Amino acid sequence: MAKNFLRIFLAVTLLSGCKAGQQANHPSYPLDPVIEKKIDSLLKLMTLEEKIGQLNQLSGMGELTGPSIASSDHAQLIRQGLLGSMLNVNGAKATRQLQEIAINESRLKIPLLFGYDVIHGYKTIFPIPLGEAASFDLEAIEQASRIAATEAAAAGQHWTFAPMVDIARDPRWGRVMEGAGEDPFYGSLVAKARVKGFQGKNLADKNTIAACAKHFVAYGGAMAGRDYNTVDISERTLYEVYLPPFQAALDAGVATFMVAFNELNGIPMSAHKDLNVDLLKKTWGFGGFMVSDWGSVGEMIAHGYSATPEDAALAGFKAGVDMDMESRLYVAHLKNLVEKGLVNEKEIDEAVRRILRIKFRLGLFDDPFRYCDTIYEKEMLLNPRHLEFAKISACKSMVLLKNQEVLPLSREIKSIALIGPMADNQQDMLGTWQGQGEAHHAITLLSGIKQKLPHARILYAKGCDFTGNDKTGFAEALNAARNAEVIVVAAGESAMMSGEALSRTQLDLPGMQKDLIIELSKLGKPMVVVLFNGRPLTIEWMDQSIPAILEAWLPGTMGGPAIADVLFGDYNPSGKLPITFPRNVGQIPLFYYHKNTGRPTNDAQRYTSRYIDSPSTPLYPFGYGLSYTTFEISTPELSATSMGPSDSLLVSVKIKNTGNRKGSEALQMYIQDKFGSVNRPVRELKAIKRVDLEPGQETVVKFAIHPSDLAFYTADMTFKAEPGEFVVFVGSDSNTQLQAGFSLKL
Ligand code: GLC
Repeated sequence: MAKNFLRIFLAVTLLSGCKAGQQANHPSYPLDPVIEKKIDSLLKLMTLEEKIGQLNQLSGMGELTGPSIASSDHAQLIRQGLLGSMLNVNGAKATRQLQEIAINESRLKIPLLFGYDVIHGYKTIFPIPLGEAASFDLEAIEQASRIAATEAAAAGQHWTFAPMVDIARDPRWGRVMEGAGEDPFYGSLVAKARVKGFQGKNLADKNTIAACAKHFVAYGGAMAGRDYNTVDISERTLYEVYLPPFQAALDAGVATFMVAFNELNGIPMSAHKDLNVDLLKKTWGFGGFMVSDWGSVGEMIAHGYSATPEDAALAGFKAGVDMDMESRLYVAHLKNLVEKGLVNEKEIDEAVRRILRIKFRLGLFDDPFRYCDTIYEKEMLLNPRHLEFAKISACKSMVLLKNQEVLPLSREIKSIALIGPMADNQQDMLGTWQGQGEAHHAITLLSGIKQKLPHARILYAKGCDFTGNDKTGFAEALNAARNAEVIVVAAGESAMMSGEALSRTQLDLPGMQKDLIIELSKLGKPMVVVLFNGRPLTIEWMDQSIPAILEAWLPGTMGGPAIADVLFGDYNPSGKLPITFPRNVGQIPLFYYHKNTGRPTNDAQRYTSRYIDSPSTPLYPFGYGLSYTTFEISTPELSATSMGPSDSLLVSVKIKNTGNRKGSEALQMYIQDKFGSVNRPVRELKAIKRVDLEPGQETVVKFAIHPSDLAFYTADMTFKAEPGEFVVFVGSDSNTQLQAGFSLKL
């Protein structure tokens, strides 16, 4: 019966005229006239209450990802057509049960849309996104999202609230773990890779899910790195730093956007019509829909922007927030607002159209149960191929920060002391936003080393916790270290020390870990610290006293075997830092694309932009990461020293593997615009090329520069290149001094 009704009604639609939604003309996904016709006809059948129901999203009660909520009778709301989407409902079985109510018991049988935070894996958990970004390997990042989408779709999910594309330049902010770091250019590349990974070629495929570019916009600019805090930035910074990854996600065809919690320059983002509607939907032509963040429409009261819940509903809806996640104000007030004439039903139709457009593209009207196959779900979750790639992804994510002839460790070692709160810790390996990942599936570093060296004596001691000042475990740890050839320390932050609402004022190793490491270092044995963290840490003391440091982030389900592969040289680390590591919190914000100022930093000269109590340079710069081999990179050679408006320039560098083992280098090209109608950064990343070389092998790498690469928001905010002198830098991190000059003549 249900299917027949749906078929009859859809058949009717093909005869009726259609009016595509306004402005949805972005080339990343052209409107489908057949779908638009079907939406037209469905809208004609819907009551105002049913239309508003499509704008209403509620959370399942199993796993709350925001402040607590009153329970609701979801089944009844679905039957009444007053609930169009749910989040935090997991599994083919659970989603099928609710979908059956929508299809079999509601009047119009409009399929539910299920969303979930698939941030770095669904059941197979990958490194946290900041760790994935450290791979500087876009194909690997896309593949990880592809696998996450495959597992999530198999488990009933249609939509992920990812990628988080917020640029972050303040590591006190807990959500720095969730993005791709500080750089707008690299963040844009990663945004595209993640959208393509999640959405694949066709949203209706069984292994793809709709993606969500979040949090629109400038959430990472929270003052003092305190989550949800005020953002007050210039229009130039907004356009140069925070918007580019969102535009990149849109160019990649992202199906949805999520609005940010924060106020931007005095107005809550949920009310920022100029950005959510005028820029995103009209100027950029976005044709999908915008969802609020958890309760963010209702939070406009706390912001001091809306006086009443009805005012908040009006503000959010008029500002382009199509779907209301968990503030429950649309379903409570929009009908009244229409009756008062403050909202036009045509505006409601436009929001409903955008949501139905995605439901149609997902194939939910053709087969509402296509993502509810429990047999397929069992095949896909934790599939061995997925786990194998999760290990590769974790290997690629690791960044070798320091190595004074300790790594790689020999496999002939007879005894190893493995010490620290992350050594035998399954739960925290998964990091925050661990989706449906389960700790008991995670392989710890202890297990990874045991698998790697089954005959070695591995002396494990936790030593201390992440927090508190208890040193009673030190004795056992020191004893283990005294009886071993090598000391491996697994230290850092627990999973819940970074992520949402998890900002920190101090960025050192928490608890007694620093004391423990210093005590261990006094034994004078070969020692490596493996860092597990969701953000840059201020570890200048460690860099000065420990011979080897490996950044492992929070590496996911396969972290243990991956780290063992790197420690023993089966994988030569090739990761690069996607975010600057400051020496201390006092330097923050500290990022590589800073301005020169009128008194450029010079720690040796008083009247320059510097500190008297700290070097001004970072501990480790953006793009930094060592290898077990070495590379020699030549000074860049240019195909010409000037170019006109229709020319391009070729930049060539030679790179040679001068070590004794195969290695991979992520060559980075930066450009400095020496003078402009506004002051320009000392350099900006413009290209990355990864090169794999055998020992002794040499190759030439070429980068092309076009005038469009030199465009920026000029004094009057026109985006264009200006004639003048430029410097191109090529090297292994953002500090490279290998350079050549050229000019642009227009
Ligand atoms: C949270 C987060 C957002 C997430 C949403 C649903 O508060 O800010 O990133 O997608 O709620 O869980």
